[in-house]
Amino acid sequence: MKKEQKTAWVTGGSSGLGLHTVRALREDGWLVIAGARSFRENTEEDGVIRLPLDVTDPESVREFCRKAGEISPPDALVQCAGMLVLGSCEETETEEYRRVMDTNFLGMVRMNREVLPRMRERGGGKIVLFSSINGLMGIPFQSAYTASKHAIEGYAECLAAEVKPFGIRVMLVEPGDHRSGSEKYRPRAAAMTPDSPYAEEFESAAGRIRRDENSGSDPDRLGRKIARTLDRKRIPFRKRIASADQHLAVYIHRFLGAEINRTVLRKYYIRRKRKA
Ligand SMILES: NC(=O)c1ccc[n+]([C@@H]2O[C@H](COP(=O)([O-])OP(=O)(O)OC[C@H]3O[C@@H](n4cnc5c(N)ncnc54)[C@H](OP(=O)(O)O)[C@@H]3O)[C@@H](O)[C@H]2O)c1
Repeated sequence: MKKEQKTAWVTGGSSGLGLHTVRALREDGWLVIAGARSFRENTEEDGVIRLPLDVTDPESVREFCRKAGEISPPDALVQCAGMLVLGSCEETETEEYRRVMDTNFLGMVRMNREVLPRMRERGGGKIVLFSSINGLMGIPFQSAYTASKHAIEGYAECLAAEVKPFGIRVMLVEPGDHRSGSEKYRPRAAAMTPDSPYAEEFESAAGRIRRDENSGSDPDRLGRKIARTLDRKRIPFRKRIASADQHLAVYIHRFLGAEINRTVLRKYYIRRKRKA
């Protein structure tokens, strides 16, 4: 018997892990409606319907949901849209924090507020929220991103408990480093100049972060894992998709004290030049 085609709405579907997830869902037979700021009105490419979407703009979120709803209501909503700003806590501007929170966290809140009534009316659905390993531990010079992903982790626990009676299931995806992201979504805080008192440690950590992403896990594999998981009736609340050493880092972080964790993380991310 032929499987009934299901519909997934995907935010941040123009690049990185969002794009890989879009492709995997499409290959698995889903009708995919992807949203991103760089998409023009109602185009279709490789069988994927693309609609413009800026998750920081309530009107754009409403329009995306209205148009996507006219095409096909969502069986699944996959929220991948995200960005980060690299910088020290002292020098990252409030406005830079606001931009990251607005995209990564409030963007999800806006989308969910539009989608939840539709899923309730239809008797259920699946909501996938992209968190990160940073949602579980704080990494130096990524405080805005780390705070936004911790917010998502807490929010998801509340959401999952509230929507369960309506047949709506929530899944947090916690990726480790994947070689997928684009530098344009990782700007530096404006104050991170060579004159910054943090410059040497910041450059060391930024270099490590870049190297880890460039040599990270296969983004195609992550897309396929999500598509496979969404095909099941029951989905797990947490799906960590990371290398063995990043799984280990999370485990250690959970069981070691804060002082030891800080020492381990500083050692990993920060190499100081030896004085001549
Ligand atoms: N790559 C990794 O190693 C990694 C690790 C852990 C977690 N993650 C998470 O995975 C997700 C994807 O990250 P990535 O690094 O793979 O991709 P990426 O290349 O950084 O792509 C970011 C995506 O978000 C979209 N986006 C940004 N701002 C948006 C806005 N205001 N409204 C709508 N869409 C917006 C971008 O599209 P437009 O510019 O076209 O709008 C783009 O499609 C993020 O949530 C990220 O935190 C990634």
